[in-house]
Amino acid sequence: MKESDTKVALVTGANRGIGKEIGRQLAAKGITVIVGARDRDQGMQACDALKAAGHAADFQLIDMAHANSIIEAVKQIKTTHARLDILVNNAGISIDFENDIFSLETEVLQNTLQTNALGPLALCQACIPLMKAQNYGRIVNVASTLGSLAEIVDPQSPYAQVAVPAYRLSKTLLNGITALVAKEVRPYNILVNSACPGWVRTAMGGEQAPLKVQEGADTPVWLATLADDGPTGGFFRERQSIPW
Ligand SMILES: NC(=O)c1ccc[n+]([C@@H]2O[C@H](COP(=O)([O-])OP(=O)(O)OC[C@H]3O[C@@H](n4cnc5c(N)ncnc54)[C@H](OP(=O)(O)O)[C@@H]3O)[C@@H](O)[C@H]2O)c1
Repeated sequence: MKESDTKVALVTGANRGIGKEIGRQLAAKGITVIVGARDRDQGMQACDALKAAGHAADFQLIDMAHANSIIEAVKQIKTTHARLDILVNNAGISIDFENDIFSLETEVLQNTLQTNALGPLALCQACIPLMKAQNYGRIVNVASTLGSLAEIVDPQSPYAQVAVPAYRLSKTLLNGITALVAKEVRPYNILVNSACPGWVRTAMGGEQAPLKVQEGADTPVWLATLADDGPTGGFFRERQSIPW
């Protein structure tokens, strides 16, 4: 493969958890992986691990809570790589375990929305011109079944007792962003989808979670590497379409 044919992927929150594994699986497919992380040392470590395994990788400082960091990161990627084929908006926080919708504090909601939805939107906005320029792009927004409106209103949902309203709302908004962005970029061979990784054993998922990171990364990686005739504007878990 010529150097210019090598695809470049940015994965946010790729220093640990599901994002780190998404980066590993994409790199194993011969894709150059830009490890996005807000912590330089941890991001560099994850990047070095990919390189030590013989993969092409780079590190990019990016804090999804800060618009300037997002803009600066994409500028640097443009200068260093001159292209971006794949964006995986994986970074996320869940900081409202104790709240229900009535005790939810505005600041908690704002912080969660910023990192989980507004940051990913800003990153889509910054990256799409690079994708349009080459008439190719794959965007995966790592959402959650907890953000599915169909699940929220279903009293029989296995997640009916799970509160985390800020987290849920942030993932509902992220799904809305997926749908709207997908609609706009359809003519440019840019496919945009949301993925739920399932309940995965990470710092966020906890030790009781049934899935390994390898399993949680599967659907995001599948969506990140779709053929041109693949789906767009959808929400997937275990490679199957699920309700918004
Ligand atoms: N685990 C599950 O069961 C599960 C289920 C459904 C959806 N998800 C989603 O999957 C994604 C990954 O979750 P995970 O389980 O791997 O969580 P995790 O282990 O807690 O990792 C979260 C990642 O996001 C990064 N991050 C948080 N805030 C950031 C910011 N402002 N800027 C840049 N990076 C930031 C973290 O960086 P630091 O190391 O610097 O904190 C870390 O790399 C999330 O979007 C989550 O909502 C997870």
